Amino acid sequence: MAAIMDFSSPVRAPKLPCKSMLKSPNVNPDFFGRSQVLTQLHEVLQPPECPLTYGNTNGLRSFVLCGFGGVGKTQIAIHYANSEAHQYDAIFWVQADGVDKLAKGFRDIAVELQLIEAAEASDPIIIRNIVMEWLSAPYKGSLPPHHNVPETAREYAKWLIIFDNADKPELLRDFWPASGNGSALVTSRDPLAKVYLHPACGLDLQPFMREEAAHFLARLSASNTESNADSESTLILSDRLGGFPLTLVHVAAIIRRKDLNMKDMLEHYDGRALHSEIYHFTDPSPHDKYTHTLSTVWELEDLSNLALHLLETIAFMDPDAIDESILKMRLEKYPSEEFGSYEDAITSLASASLIKRDMDRKQLTVHRVVQEGTRNRMSTQRFTLAFGHVVELLLNSWYHEPEEKFTHLKVLWDVANVVSPHATHIKSVYDRSGPNLDPEITFAFARLLQKNGC
Ligand SMILES: Nc1ncnc2c1ncn2[C@@H]1O[C@H](COP(=O)(O)OP(=O)(O)O)[C@@H](O)[C@H]1O
Ligand SMILES: [Mg+2]
Repeated sequence: MAAIMDFSSPVRAPKLPCKSMLKSPNVNPDFFGRSQVLTQLHEVLQPPECPLTYGNTNGLRSFVLCGFGGVGKTQIAIHYANSEAHQYDAIFWVQADGVDKLAKGFRDIAVELQLIEAAEASDPIIIRNIVMEWLSAPYKGSLPPHHNVPETAREYAKWLIIFDNADKPELLRDFWPASGNGSALVTSRDPLAKVYLHPACGLDLQPFMREEAAHFLARLSASNTESNADSESTLILSDRLGGFPLTLVHVAAIIRRKDLNMKDMLEHYDGRALHSEIYHFTDPSPHDKYTHTLSTVWELEDLSNLALHLLETIAFMDPDAIDESILKMRLEKYPSEEFGSYEDAITSLASASLIKRDMDRKQLTVHRVVQEGTRNRMSTQRFTLAFGHVVELLLNSWYHEPEEKFTHLKVLWDVANVVSPHATHIKSVYDRSGPNLDPEITFAFARLLQKNGC
């Protein structure tokens, strides 16, 4: 009897190993530290040692690295992917900051794996489905649709996919390989990406710790830290820079370029000219394709007016506990239609990891690095204006309660607890930057300090 003809197209054999998408993000020869995070990534993402087959899979392993721009998420992803490349048969790097980029990334995967021809003009949804299917059952060899190999014996490839810059994690919805058998690493500014993507482990990446930052700065600036004075200066300087990798890299480059020693740099650092140099510096080194300067890294120009005003207000306050009630007082002056809603503004700052919000306490926290960066990008005029606003705001907090309530010591004590840390903080900003204040603001500032016993 004639065999039944099979007209369905044969399933194409994937081209493995497939790691060419890793070539695009350049490896940084100066990569430093982060060993704890790398260990965590290894533990969560590492594929099993035994060969994977249809009958022996363990689903999707995923990790989400969150944190504000420039804190080092992409560097870690590049380093992990390169140092653990031997564990995987295929590694895919996908830019995730837009649906078009995601679709392009999936097309590149299909082409690199040779699941489609490069010139093939197929519907992006079909291509995405072809890739998703392979990620779910990542067979290694060529198999005709009705093959004789038992399903359970088909060997699977071990793959890693990196979604870089998934700042709007909801865009990943159609591209997230939830039923995949492999490892996914995501970088995102939005801390909620950890919650949004299942099943995901994750963390909020912080700048370098004090000692670590000092080592990094010393190494990059090739300074001779053998002299005690210099190592002390390195520690103080890296501390001032808040351990923020991007600033440390820029400051080290300035030290090298100007042939300064650490002590000179520390002395010059408070000078406004150098400040501005750091904040507009672009690293010309060939390995580092990072295009942001400190003045652009947080994309503050994309924020709404209200979000920017709030961030500029927060930049002068004690970073560890900012009562939202104080900020809301700031809004009373502005017509809401002009500035948009407070909730939207705070959400946009939180989803860029520029602030953290504690919903129960109704308090915000902000990283010192973000405060300093925000202050440094302000013009002198805007700085002075914002300074005056914050002084006024803090002073008003004292008088916000009805007069008679102040007869209760407890009320006084509560207000002092809320306002004093901010008064102390704005004084330290004043001591460092010494803005030229109007007589009216100077008087208000003096009253604020006096009232708070600063
Ligand atoms: N671990 C690190 N070692 C060396 N340089 C780093 C490290 N982390 C960050 N950097 C520097 O900071 C820049 C920004 O880091 P990146 O990972 O791109 O930030 P993010 O992805 O969080 O926006 C890098 O281009 C690099 O110069
Ligand atoms: Mg990045």
